[in-house]
Amino acid sequence: MARPLLTVILAAGKGTRMRSALPKVLHRIAGRSMLGHVLALANGVGGDKLAVVVGPGMDVVRTDALAAAPGADVFVQENQLGTADAVLAAREAIASQRGDLLVLFADTPLITAATVKALLGELDRGASIAVLGFEARDPGAYGRLLTAEDGTLVAIREAKDATEAERAVRLCNSGVMAFRLDEPLAVLDEIGNANAKGEYYLTDAVELVRKRGGRGAVVVCDEDEVLGVNSRRELATAEAIWQRRARNKVMDEGVTLIAPDTVWLSFDTVIGRDVVVEPNVFFGPGVSVAEGAEIKANSYFEGARIGEGARIGPFARLRPGAVLGRDVHVGNFVEVKNVAMADGAKANHLSYLGDGTVGAKANIGAGTIFCNYDGFFKHKTEIGAGAFVGSNSSLVAPLKIGAGAYIGSGSVITKDVAADALALERSDQDVRPGWAEKFRTMMARRKAAAGK
Ligand code: UD1
Ligand code: CA
Repeated sequence: MARPLLTVILAAGKGTRMRSALPKVLHRIAGRSMLGHVLALANGVGGDKLAVVVGPGMDVVRTDALAAAPGADVFVQENQLGTADAVLAAREAIASQRGDLLVLFADTPLITAATVKALLGELDRGASIAVLGFEARDPGAYGRLLTAEDGTLVAIREAKDATEAERAVRLCNSGVMAFRLDEPLAVLDEIGNANAKGEYYLTDAVELVRKRGGRGAVVVCDEDEVLGVNSRRELATAEAIWQRRARNKVMDEGVTLIAPDTVWLSFDTVIGRDVVVEPNVFFGPGVSVAEGAEIKANSYFEGARIGEGARIGPFARLRPGAVLGRDVHVGNFVEVKNVAMADGAKANHLSYLGDGTVGAKANIGAGTIFCNYDGFFKHKTEIGAGAFVGSNSSLVAPLKIGAGAYIGSGSVITKDVAADALALERSDQDVRPGWAEKFRTMMARRKAAAGK
């Protein structure tokens, strides 16, 4: 049976370089906080217990963590004394745990579960400490991984404490580490702060474990995976890497992206097979698209469900609660919010459909507005199956239009309409034969008189 696993996520950093009122780890990638990504990673790895270490006064971080992982224990690191001190903030969780310990950084959101599983695999092969490393393009301030000829990990040297020869090493520490120790607290408590930064370095654990006869191992991954986010620029870089991966994944699953670099996905976007997505489409959180739908250019979605074979856009906007059935058409400059459109319903041009239902095969003409808000409350508009709403109609909610009813163009409808009725709200047309000709003649005469 697998040993139990405790995952400790370090999220106490203030992230000064983000220049933000928001704690760094709550900044979003693909619509989810970096902490949310790392919690999802921990979940994907499948540990038994989860501890999140936050800074003092970071209640918003606690709330975010507990929303994503209700079973997590949140600990506060009172002073930022280094990564070992941060892990020790979770002392209580570590003390009550018999098994392995995994440390993740909440500002390093792109690591995959497969990579972490490979790292834990080193513990299965007898390593006491396993570190995720990468060949850095620019090793800069990263800790260097010092290895023996046989590849075992001997020590991690922080750049500021390294000799020139050690600084020349390009194999660097990602920060992600796993421990298989009988007494992890004994090792962590032994870590001191006699170093260039005066900090308690978690990285010192490698040498201490070796002194106790344990073996250190390194697993190497791609640098992109372990990108740490400290600034808005790095946040944008992480977003770009995440998007590239997600686009490739949906294409591998059978989705056509005509211009992949212009399609933005969220962490939870679901797109079925044979969906075609044209350029410049933004998928906010909570969107699913069923098989065979066509998503035309320049559309924006959030919190919406798009049914099989539906045709959406160009220039469509779907907001939370838009639930579109099979073969629904939503065309250019149509906004749909909190409206269920049943199979085959159409709103092809220039409309606002907010709060309501549209029955199967109903047709909503150009310029139709659901007047859902009276300045105080929102009201529902319910349109029956097969109803036909003429262009430029204002439907003042609350309102029910029966199945198969017709609404004459340009009407302002304020009362319910029975099934199969015609409702029409306009004044009679006044026609004056020859009026225009007389008018032009009169005006031409006036102009000539004024010109004299
Ligand atoms: C750390 C590693 C370094 C590695 C680098 C990778 C140590 C001593 N060094 O250095 O080897 O190459 O990460 O990015 O571990 N944190 C706390 N409380 C603290 C200090 C840090 O929660 O007191 C959190 C930070 O929010 C961050 C993570 O731990 O998420 C790393 O801390 P940081 O100060 O960025 O470490 P580095 O100096 O970059
Ligand atoms: Ca860092």
